[in-house]
Amino acid sequence: MTEQKVRWGILATGGIAAAFTAELVDLPDAEVVAVASRTEQSAKAFAERFGIARAYGDWDALARDEDVDVVYVATPHSAHRAAAGLCLEAGRNVLCEKAFTLNAREAEELVALARSRGSFLMEAMWMYCNPLIRRLADLVRDGAIGEVRSVHADFGLAGPFPPQSRLRDPLQGGGALLDLGVYPVSFAHLLLGEPADVVARAVLSEEGVDLQTGALLSWESGALASVHCSIIGGTATTASVTGSLGRIDIPYGFFHTDRFVLHRDGRDPEEFTTGPAERGSLRHEAQEVMRALRAGGTESPLVPLDGTLAVMRTLDAIRDRVGVRYPSEDTLTPA
Ligand SMILES: NC(=O)c1ccc[n+]([C@@H]2O[C@H](COP(=O)([O-])OP(=O)(O)OC[C@H]3O[C@@H](n4cnc5c(N)ncnc54)[C@H](OP(=O)(O)O)[C@@H]3O)[C@@H](O)[C@H]2O)c1
Repeated sequence: MTEQKVRWGILATGGIAAAFTAELVDLPDAEVVAVASRTEQSAKAFAERFGIARAYGDWDALARDEDVDVVYVATPHSAHRAAAGLCLEAGRNVLCEKAFTLNAREAEELVALARSRGSFLMEAMWMYCNPLIRRLADLVRDGAIGEVRSVHADFGLAGPFPPQSRLRDPLQGGGALLDLGVYPVSFAHLLLGEPADVVARAVLSEEGVDLQTGALLSWESGALASVHCSIIGGTATTASVTGSLGRIDIPYGFFHTDRFVLHRDGRDPEEFTTGPAERGSLRHEAQEVMRALRAGGTESPLVPLDGTLAVMRTLDAIRDRVGVRYPSEDTLTPA
């Protein structure tokens, strides 16, 4: 695979599948060769829209397509375990949307499957592939703001989302936490690792999903992170990390940012930017997958599977504290 284009298969034809495919078709070293949907009609329409050669009306045919190097799973989270599992079982490499699965148990099953097959698997946590977020993490790791004391991050959308929308459907893993809260939680994990303890409160819908959730994560070092997510209020969607020697602020849209400001105590603020073309781009995660596949890797150092598992444990712990359980979950093992 060193010189040839990486051949992508797309599994599901919804909103993010279309957004990601639109970026893939513009990458010179990528080729989208197949798409699968639950219906042939939808697969064909998607294939026609993006000029994709093969359209399958079931997932199995895509999973068994030997001429696909990597499958991008873009179903609702409730179907990630089944869809990614099918592809891994058939020998495909997989990039799987966030939240990676409904819970840590499902995530462990997928990771074990990929590792036993020697296949590549990565959570589509595009924030971790964003060049400025990587720069920020490097600065923090190198001590630019001293020892990390606290992190704040939030992501809320005003909606309104009707009860029949994916975001409010328990059967599809609905709620603010898995869809939006995964970004603030992953941001805190990036800077501090897995928390030692979690407290949380949420407001639940009649259907039993979280409409808004606030959590306080704590570490043995004394660091704290406050994370908030909502599907009933458009929040600032900013992030900041404060240390013993300064602070870094990321403005609106922190998880796909093109700008942040470093405040070192006693110095003028320093702005870091990549320019607006970088903002909102999913191509960095696609490029990271292709780089890792060409290098013969089975996971990405930017989005390591152990990190994904840790985030899933924190999401489980938050859901445990606020009492959100999905219909398919008989037992949830909280952290
Ligand atoms: N990275 C990002 O920025 C980002 C942004 C938005 C969403 N996401 C994630 O991507 C995933 C999909 O989100 P989306 O907004 O694209 O959702 P969406 O627009 O509802 O699309 C999901 C697609 O999955 C298939 N599907 C629907 N219900 C299903 C079910 N019950 N079981 C299996 N497949 C089903 C459908 O495709 P077919 O009809 O073809 O089967 C549907 O079009 C979620 O996990 C979400 O968290 C990521």
